[in-house]
Amino acid sequence: MMQLPTRHIITGGAGFIGSHLTETLLERGDRVVVLDNLQHAQRDWLEQVRIHPRLEICQGDLLHPEELRGLLTASDLVWHLAANTNMVIGAQNPQVDVENGFLATQRLLEWMRSEGTHKLVFASSGAVYGDMARPPASEQYGPLLPVSMYGATKLAGEALLSAYHHVFGMQAWIFRFGNVLGARMSHGVVFDFIRKLRECPTALEILGDGTAEKNYILVEECIDGMLWALTHTKPGFEILNLGSPTTTTVNEIAQIVIEDLGLRNVELRYAGGARGWPGDQPRVYMDVSKLRQLGWMTRYTSSEAVRIATRRYLGKETGPTDRKESGKAERSVGTRGTNS
Ligand SMILES: NC(=O)c1ccc[n+]([C@@H]2O[C@H](COP(=O)([O-])OP(=O)(O)OC[C@H]3O[C@@H](n4cnc5c(N)ncnc54)[C@H](O)[C@@H]3O)[C@@H](O)[C@H]2O)c1
Repeated sequence: MMQLPTRHIITGGAGFIGSHLTETLLERGDRVVVLDNLQHAQRDWLEQVRIHPRLEICQGDLLHPEELRGLLTASDLVWHLAANTNMVIGAQNPQVDVENGFLATQRLLEWMRSEGTHKLVFASSGAVYGDMARPPASEQYGPLLPVSMYGATKLAGEALLSAYHHVFGMQAWIFRFGNVLGARMSHGVVFDFIRKLRECPTALEILGDGTAEKNYILVEECIDGMLWALTHTKPGFEILNLGSPTTTTVNEIAQIVIEDLGLRNVELRYAGGARGWPGDQPRVYMDVSKLRQLGWMTRYTSSEAVRIATRRYLGKETGPTDRKESGKAERSVGTRGTNS
């Protein structure tokens, strides 16, 4: 079993999941280097911890690692979260995903190789499964045929990691996330519905036919699951689904958001079709028994996660890292086995 290193590099550390991970690792007492080009960060989520003595924030682009010399040490654990996460931009210009998804991953791996750094966590996605003919999909599912540029570049990143593991001894933990939710989310159906209903409280445009069914997980559970897996597996090459074993339909999400906004008689206008947009997956239903066998599973169902995240986004509830003061420990992480 691996003991967690105490120095971490987080690519994309200024983004939604990365900023929560940064706070969590600082709470553990570890050192964190955030590497982010800050192009897509919606707000300064690191504001609360910016002057933390164990945090270094480096504005830089993974496409130009030559400008980042001296940042990596051999014993670091690298969390690779940087990617283009805006599917609309990716669908309009595939180069954005190819560069920030695939090329950035390859440059990072080469940079790590040159510095002798060999431990990497990769934020992959259920998008690698494409249209699921036989859900729920386990990590053994195949063939893997993504239906989006985003999913294709995640799968290409996984393939690169596999090759770097076999050829250069890179140790990798690949997590295929479900849909991750929290107060800082900047995209996705919950975010989109809240935004639309604030603009027009009487009608909601729903992309697709409302029956799309996916799994949703809270950001702190996502981080907790990764930490659990890292400390309960041997370094090598691991692929793990990380999401909820339950799912929520788009129609259910619409009802939850409408209720929590306190609205009534909202007209639902469906754009129609099973797929909400080119590259959308109507079903993302993941088999999470591998992580469960390691002793970890989500505490909340998918629909509970949607409800909690909606409330947090609306400021009705606070999350574990939303309410804390900089640098103060509030909860332990990676220490829970709910189903072992
Ligand atoms: N949020 C989800 O539901 C979800 C689901 C599955 C997988 N993921 C993956 O998890 C990771 C984090 O997602 P998120 O929701 O926090 O996204 P995010 O967009 O909030 O964060 C990504 C960060 O990466 C940075 N970045 C992008 N390209 C870069 C580059 N070339 N060099 C340096 N920095 C760069 C951006 O500035 C941004 O701050 C991503 O890899 C995403 O694909 C997220």
